[in-house]
Amino acid sequence: MDETEKINATKAGTYEFDKDFVVNRLGYGTMQLTGPGVWGPYKDPDQAVSVIKKAFDLGVNFIDTADSYGPWNADNYLARALKEYPDSDKIFISDKVGQVRTGPEGWVPVGAPAFLRQEVELSLRKFHRDHEDLLFLHRIDTKYPMEDQVGELKKLQDEGKIKHIGISQVTLEQLKAAQKVAKIDAVENMYNVGHHKGDDAIVDYCKAQGIAFLPWFPLNTGNLAKPDSPLSGIAQKYSVTPAQIALAWLLKRSDNILPIPGTSSIEHLQDNLSAGNVQLSDEDFKQLSDLEK
Ligand SMILES: NC(=O)c1ccc[n+]([C@@H]2O[C@H](COP(=O)([O-])OP(=O)(O)OC[C@H]3O[C@@H](n4cnc5c(N)ncnc54)[C@H](OP(=O)(O)O)[C@@H]3O)[C@@H](O)[C@H]2O)c1
Repeated sequence: MDETEKINATKAGTYEFDKDFVVNRLGYGTMQLTGPGVWGPYKDPDQAVSVIKKAFDLGVNFIDTADSYGPWNADNYLARALKEYPDSDKIFISDKVGQVRTGPEGWVPVGAPAFLRQEVELSLRKFHRDHEDLLFLHRIDTKYPMEDQVGELKKLQDEGKIKHIGISQVTLEQLKAAQKVAKIDAVENMYNVGHHKGDDAIVDYCKAQGIAFLPWFPLNTGNLAKPDSPLSGIAQKYSVTPAQIALAWLLKRSDNILPIPGTSSIEHLQDNLSAGNVQLSDEDFKQLSDLEK
């Protein structure tokens, strides 16, 4: 068996956004491919492009990104990787708009409809595409009514420039309000094995409504993957890494969950993309679910 058979995103199963686009559930997030504080270029741009291309080679066809990563640096690497990849039209891009950057770690939601539209247009130009596969409102901007923000995405969808609309870091009430403005096909909230109870009801609601759930910080920014991780004991039992246990827990939690672990390392990418091989027992799944007090 060669590497791409053992380590492959396809092992985690698939999720259907529509009949034209079935993605492998285990994806990849580009946010680590920037400078410190998600600001500026990654220290080795060629390595950043190589990691994305390696993800494609290992079956990832679902990439989460945003122009605010850098800003634009992660998207530049993604655009380069797509250009150099023969099957780039088969890569589903999950993009986000609605945040400006004020410096390292500085994030400000901006929901002005004209700004959201400009970001979509610039991203389409960057990726040489005529539509966004999945476009998230990165944050709801409380200075604008929901109708203006999600409504602008709906207008872009009606114009054929967005296929699927998502919203990010929302409450159940905000999700229901957004559903009155447009069909919402995905939610992206912070969610991992150590921090899930507050959003368990949203995951279940999304499942019932046929909405994908993208858990950001699936490895709790790497803390769940460290050797002293609270997952180390179970990882030893399965002879896998703590990162694989964290991702296997998400995959078992609900089949509408699409994890998007981020990494700048090919070794960690291979580790993460092996998570689909791990089948947690119901007992271990429950024990992990109860880690959060
Ligand atoms: N919608 C939102 O508001 C929002 C917010 C944050 C993030 N996101 C998305 O979610 C994605 C994932 O979040 P994230 O990248 O910040 O956090 P994460 O996936 O929870 O963790 C990434 C961190 O874990 C390390 N890591 C990854 N795999 C590892 C492994 N197998 N073993 C040991 N360490 C490992 C990485 O370091 P190395 O680089 O050294 O591997 C990095 O420091 C982002 O890329 C982004 O697309 C969305």
